[in-house]
Amino acid sequence: MVGNVYLLGIDIGTSAVKGGLFDSQGHAERLESAEYGMEQPRSGWAEQNPEVWWQAVRQVIRKLTAHDRMVGKQIGAIGLSGQMHGLVMLDSQGNVLRPCILWCDGRSGEECREIEWMAGAEKIRRITANPVLPGFTAGKILWVRRHEPEIYEKCRHILLPKDYVRYRLTGELASDVSDASGTNLLDVERRQWRGELLAKLQIEMEWMPRLYESAEITGVVSRQAGEETGLLPGTPVVGGAGDNMAAAVGCGVVREGKAFNTIGTSGVIFAPMKRMRADPKGRVHTFCHAVPGMWAMMSCTLAAGLSVQWFRNQFCETEDFYSWMNGQLEHVPPGANGVVFLPYLMGERSPLLNERIRGGFLGLSAGSSRADFMRAVIEGVSYSQRQCLDILREQNIVPEEMILCGGGTKNDIWRQILAALYEMPVTRIQGSGESGVLGAAILAGVGAGIYRDVSEGCTAAVHMMEPEQPRQDYMEAYRRLYPRYCQASAVIANGII
Ligand code: XUL
Repeated sequence: MVGNVYLLGIDIGTSAVKGGLFDSQGHAERLESAEYGMEQPRSGWAEQNPEVWWQAVRQVIRKLTAHDRMVGKQIGAIGLSGQMHGLVMLDSQGNVLRPCILWCDGRSGEECREIEWMAGAEKIRRITANPVLPGFTAGKILWVRRHEPEIYEKCRHILLPKDYVRYRLTGELASDVSDASGTNLLDVERRQWRGELLAKLQIEMEWMPRLYESAEITGVVSRQAGEETGLLPGTPVVGGAGDNMAAAVGCGVVREGKAFNTIGTSGVIFAPMKRMRADPKGRVHTFCHAVPGMWAMMSCTLAAGLSVQWFRNQFCETEDFYSWMNGQLEHVPPGANGVVFLPYLMGERSPLLNERIRGGFLGLSAGSSRADFMRAVIEGVSYSQRQCLDILREQNIVPEEMILCGGGTKNDIWRQILAALYEMPVTRIQGSGESGVLGAAILAGVGAGIYRDVSEGCTAAVHMMEPEQPRQDYMEAYRRLYPRYCQASAVIANGII
């Protein structure tokens, strides 16, 4: 049976929906994507319309399935991965009430302080394993309650981005514990909503979706979704995971001692834990992993790939930006001829926890070129990843090798910069490198009974490339340069600029 069955993974990202059909060995039969933008109605705000995700999902699934090679094949199950924390509000009929407020939106700082006051800062931190952060969902709910009472009044259901797609596919209002960890409303140790916390914040428990572990079946494709997508009605959809946990599964990062770093729109360093622990200063997050009985500690910098996209949109109207970028990176030495970039375009989460700070370029001279700026952007994002790794190391998370994934790490020089800053070998998964999509498909495979558990799925479907060693000359250069970045970052963090 397995030979004729594919697993479908869908990732609802910030810049695109990506989808892939995989066999049980993790080989991608087809991969498709559909891009979209992000609305920024004000500085530090970020929104997307859930209908845009659904249209992109339909387009991706149609492209994936409308192919000769799919004839006679079945999709055994579907797994969803998605950008975390976004607030989707539905009315009693399931209509979307307002655009989704995204993970990188910093508008709800005041409401986060209100939540701490209502529920007790220490208590909520103990329950949810994280400080109350504007990026997370709870503050956004209170923001809508305060600023858009007419919308709040109509709200009956709260969903995370991938769970809205699940709703359109199956009609079920459900989520998984890994994604729910990013709401500031979950008891992260017990892996369930905390009624008492919801009551204190006066958020209705009935609004919250039913929770599942990531590989559990949450529903099946409905007749209507079948008509809209071409999928077979009845195909099971598993819980899936927040994009970082799905990517962890797709990189095989499902046991202690392993770690990965993704450079997507955000930048994340992620390490699994058998026992739940949290950074006492809250600079990195603690979430449920997509593996039952496991948790993860992870950093999140808000503008990793987002900084590169911003730079491209503002300064490089070239058709083939990424090959232009490669060329420029090669010709500028480490240190970008003195230019330093601070990537706080959306404020910052890890390591600074400050939604109000903004980024900058320093060290400019009359000789500074666009290529220097380009290299400085890549280096600035990489230095901020190193700062996050330093925090994880303080928490006794000391990986020996870093798995790299996400669009940014497809670039050879960027990988070398990261390897030199981490002073450790880096490696990637074989194939497309779309670890979130593969991770979602592996979770689907567990739900469909093709793998016994997530770990067996990873062994069967995740194949690593040969590790790349850090370059000696880069390591020496970045040992000198990294402290300079830390000083520049401290100037902004301390409110001097
Ligand atoms: C994690 C986070 C981002 C989003 C978007 O806490 O906010 O990584 O999941 O990728």
